[in-house]
Amino acid sequence: MPYFCGLAIFDIVPVRVLRDLVPPLVWRAGVRVLRGRSTPTYQGVTSLADLSALHRGRFATVFDEAFPNNPDLRPDGNLTRLRAYTTMTFAAIALRGPGDVVSIGISYGVTPKVVYELVVKGRDRNYHLVDPFWPKDGANYADDPAPVMAQFGGDPCVRLHRNTAPEALPLPLDRGLAFAELCTGDQRAELASLPYLIDQLTPQGVIVIDDYGWGPSTVPYDRIAEYFNAQIFVQPTGQGVLTKRPANRPRSAADRC
Ligand SMILES: C[S@@+](CC[C@H](N)C(=O)[O-])C[C@H]1O[C@@H](n2cnc3c(N)ncnc32)[C@H](O)[C@@H]1O
Repeated sequence: MPYFCGLAIFDIVPVRVLRDLVPPLVWRAGVRVLRGRSTPTYQGVTSLADLSALHRGRFATVFDEAFPNNPDLRPDGNLTRLRAYTTMTFAAIALRGPGDVVSIGISYGVTPKVVYELVVKGRDRNYHLVDPFWPKDGANYADDPAPVMAQFGGDPCVRLHRNTAPEALPLPLDRGLAFAELCTGDQRAELASLPYLIDQLTPQGVIVIDDYGWGPSTVPYDRIAEYFNAQIFVQPTGQGVLTKRPANRPRSAADRC
């Protein structure tokens, strides 16, 4: 993202307007030059560390193909890049154990596509996608599941549940839950879904709560996690990562070294 005097130029002039005004070749060359000179920001996260893993290799190939499906993420795609990478990382760790996979809040399916291609595909796991695909109401979320589901190539392991959570629960998780990601923007719905999801979670399982650190308080999530003997730690992206405490160890013993 090009920066001038601490401000992104895209903060001053709406990027769509700017792009319409500039010839395409000049636009592409300009973006390349300015990007090379600046430190990318990923929805408020800026790092001087080498984050080229977000821009090269298989993750970048899949993410760069998927993000333009969501009109809100164009043109540079960095807004949810780090969040998608974080979700994918924890999904990959969780799927070293048994169980199926759940995403709640799909819209254009950018993160689910990344998780599917890089972690789930070909692993004999069911991938349950939950979203009502409501008619557009100003939020600009996807209202038609057909093009979203087409991204999964008709894989019978990927199953759409066109409903809200928690109403869509329980899901057919015969093998338990290895990984879930919650990305609805509806804290009430996520809190109401968590007890079931934690109950289904395998001992090595992980739940990524995308909006965890973005709400006014993390306390409601923490309370539910504590009640069900789980814990949540926060990522720089604001995402919460929930894991279960070992079942047969008293909580106080876990806190001692
Ligand atoms: C921010 S978008 C999801 C973006 C998606 N994770 C991605 O990476 O492209 C939020 C979605 O959550 C859905 N949603 C809202 N409330 C929900 C609920 N209670 N259960 C399931 N989905 C819900 C909306 O319909 C919308 O499509």
